[in-house]
Amino acid sequence: MDARERALLGRAQGVSLVSELRERPGGYFVHESSYVDDGAIIGRETRVWHFCHVNRGAVIGERCSLGQNVVVMPGTRLGNNVKVQNNVSIYEGVECEDDVFLGPSMVFTNVTNPRSHISRKHEYQRTAVGRGASIGANATIICGNSLGEYCFVGAGAVVTRDVPAYALVAGVPARVIGWICRCGVRLALPAALSAGGEVTCGTCSTHYTVSEHGPRPTPGAIDAAGSERR
Ligand SMILES: CC(C)(COP(=O)(O)OP(=O)(O)OC[C@H]1O[C@@H](n2cnc3c(N)ncnc32)[C@H](O)[C@@H]1OP(=O)(O)O)[C@@H](O)C(=O)NCCC(=O)NCCS
Ligand SMILES: [Zn+2]
Repeated sequence: MDARERALLGRAQGVSLVSELRERPGGYFVHESSYVDDGAIIGRETRVWHFCHVNRGAVIGERCSLGQNVVVMPGTRLGNNVKVQNNVSIYEGVECEDDVFLGPSMVFTNVTNPRSHISRKHEYQRTAVGRGASIGANATIICGNSLGEYCFVGAGAVVTRDVPAYALVAGVPARVIGWICRCGVRLALPAALSAGGEVTCGTCSTHYTVSEHGPRPTPGAIDAAGSERR
């Protein structure tokens, strides 16, 4: 039976299927190849694709997507609308706010100096990922660092220190190479910000006020629903 036939059969049997995903009580969807432990909390309309394991104690918001081969450990928290691409492990201590994008095969860590013969379970460090942040494919985040809201980590970067909000970082170790709009397009700002100013995104027209801490949407530029005011 192919996916379409299974979906038709599911509908005929009164079982709600989205593609090959099956609805669970609570209104989220899980592929039959994945495990969701009792005690895991998953929000409505979240989709858990093939070969995933969501552990007891994990908290996942609404409308998230876990791609193939994603592991979510206890003591983790994902907000709403978090997109996790294939082959990502979310280790204890990782917290992602709403609208975070985790690129394929990116790597979190939770121990700075692991040794096989020494247990460091009591030394897990926190990694906080701010709202709207994106982490590129194959990037590595050294634990204990925070990623500011709407920052963007380039593919393959190794993050060894905090990333400012709206910063674009790349390389090993990751350095600020520019600044980026909420819409994911670079802003016309130098990497090193010396003084205040303002800038408007050439793509979505969001207006930013710039300080030495980086650009921030000018008050009123974002409406209450989080959409950019054009
Ligand atoms: C970081 C990124 C957003 C930059 O895109 P961009 O603004 O179009 O940048 P450009 O391609 O013009 O590159 C600008 C400079 O940064 C360098 N650069 C770009 N991406 C880089 C990266 N990931 N690591 C190191 N250097 C990078 C380029 O070589 C170039 O250097 P140069 O000025 O010396 O020639 C993009 O390259 C990237 O890594 N995207 C992530 C893609 C991804 O992982 N998607 C996951 C979903 S499939
Ligand atoms: Zn924009």
